[in-house]
Amino acid sequence: MARSRRPLIAGNWKMNGLRADAMNLATGVAAGVKRAGWTDREVLVCPPATLVMAVSEAVKGSGVLVGGQNCHASVSGAHTGDISAEMLGDAGASHVIVGHSERRTDCGETDTDVRHKAEAAWRAGLLPIVCIGETLAERESGRTLAVLETQLKGSVPAGATAAKLVVAYEPVWAIGTGKTPSVAEVAAAHAHIRRVLTGLIPDAGALRLLYGGSVKGSNAGELLAAGDVDGALVGGASLKADEFLAIAKAA
Ligand code: PGA
Repeated sequence: MARSRRPLIAGNWKMNGLRADAMNLATGVAAGVKRAGWTDREVLVCPPATLVMAVSEAVKGSGVLVGGQNCHASVSGAHTGDISAEMLGDAGASHVIVGHSERRTDCGETDTDVRHKAEAAWRAGLLPIVCIGETLAERESGRTLAVLETQLKGSVPAGATAAKLVVAYEPVWAIGTGKTPSVAEVAAAHAHIRRVLTGLIPDAGALRLLYGGSVKGSNAGELLAAGDVDGALVGGASLKADEFLAIAKAA
């Protein structure tokens, strides 16, 4: 891993956590991060929107960062049930995941939607984590790299720089399945992503590329050591403080 790019270990709690359990998880992660005293990596947790404020309070002073899992593209308005990037920031978030494959599938989010959400994150002073990744059918038909390129070109806003954007590569078929690509496949995808980004942003070499999809304590070491991997976006394994901290330690 290129040490010039500070690794980011991000936990995506998805639609999991009522207050009591979430507080235990947040304080457990915060205690572990504080104990470790890492200055060479960043640890982020993205709880459900209902808990962003409480988790932000709970991790205060530990160094743990807090993010949202999605935002609306607009600042405010008649969008029942939606949450703006400004609202996430107001609740204590510094980051927001946009374009996760579950939202692309469940909510029909397109690359254009994702791009507008990333722009909304900037407007609110948040760092967007733009997610991309191929389906199993796309991989099996040899279209992985082309799909990633299309998603990047559609989802990354004009004006992006390494300081203003994180990209997460999450093969859809690896999310929540216990399956992962080989280390060589991860490295090849990440090298391709960085190559495509070179045509889109001025300092692509400094941008952080996360791998996501069935990352756990036992495979984090090898996945995080793959070329061009600068951290992980972790779902299931981020719901246990010890497991998540083990991944952060591996970074
Ligand atoms: P997983 O999810 O770690 O449970 O596979 C990753 C993600 O969806 O971000």
